[in-house]
Amino acid sequence: MAEFTLPKNSKIKKGKVVSAPDGAANTKTFHVYRWNPDDGENPRMDSFQVDLDTCGPMVLDGLIKIKNEMDASVTFRRSCREGVCGSCAMNIDGLNTLACTKAIGDIKGAITITPLPHMEVVKDLVPDMTNFYAQYASIEPWMKTKTPTPSGKERLQSPEDREKLDGLYECILCACCSTACPSYWWNQDRYLGPAILLQSYRWLVDSRDEATGERLDDLEDPFRLYRCHTIMNCSNACPKGLNPAKAIAETKKMLVERRG
Ligand code: SF4
Ligand code: SF4
Ligand code: FES
Repeated sequence: MAEFTLPKNSKIKKGKVVSAPDGAANTKTFHVYRWNPDDGENPRMDSFQVDLDTCGPMVLDGLIKIKNEMDASVTFRRSCREGVCGSCAMNIDGLNTLACTKAIGDIKGAITITPLPHMEVVKDLVPDMTNFYAQYASIEPWMKTKTPTPSGKERLQSPEDREKLDGLYECILCACCSTACPSYWWNQDRYLGPAILLQSYRWLVDSRDEATGERLDDLEDPFRLYRCHTIMNCSNACPKGLNPAKAIAETKKMLVERRG
């Protein structure tokens, strides 16, 4: 089985090694980050040799197989298994992505899986999303209106205005982008990060929303928006092919235009 190599002076230890059943001819090694807040131990990397002939094609299938057949204590989040819930985001071979849409076959050699970087860990591959969700709530992600609804019916939008939401409404809040952003790593207590800023822009450009001025006021801050230094890691990381860096640039443009 492929050995896991640790950097010098790493506090992470090598953990247990679980081999595939006898006779398995087509195997893949999964090195999985393990940390349990209740056992007082340092994190470790456990290695599992998965029989690919009895496993689905995606990295999430491998993790589910490990949990079902090799070690029931391996902990990770997942729900939809088709890239729409965002809960299986993790770092796979150095890239933040969704385990359910990442094919095992796309990865050469052993697969190394760790939690999303620079987040507190709840257990194993589960990051603590408390701050991320609080930041999402802080942008008040719902339509705000002051005028009465026209003729008591729904607020209509032209096809052109509706198109402005394309590339924004598809965001599944997986946090792959924010946790790939160096500015977010160092300032996540004050900087909103690319995911939340993309969501914020989604309301700024919605033709039906009537709180654009207040939303922009809320972003006029040296940290909440302006910690973005256009490094572009966020757009490269998005598993849905979205472009949070562009949304951030458009938001900055709106603020400049408002100042006249
Ligand atoms: S463009 Fe901005 S938000 Fe995206 S990774 Fe760079 S600093 Fe972070
Ligand atoms: S912009 Fe992409 S990477 Fe970021 S939270 Fe949304 S879907 Fe995930
Ligand atoms: S399980 Fe829902 S996005 Fe992967």
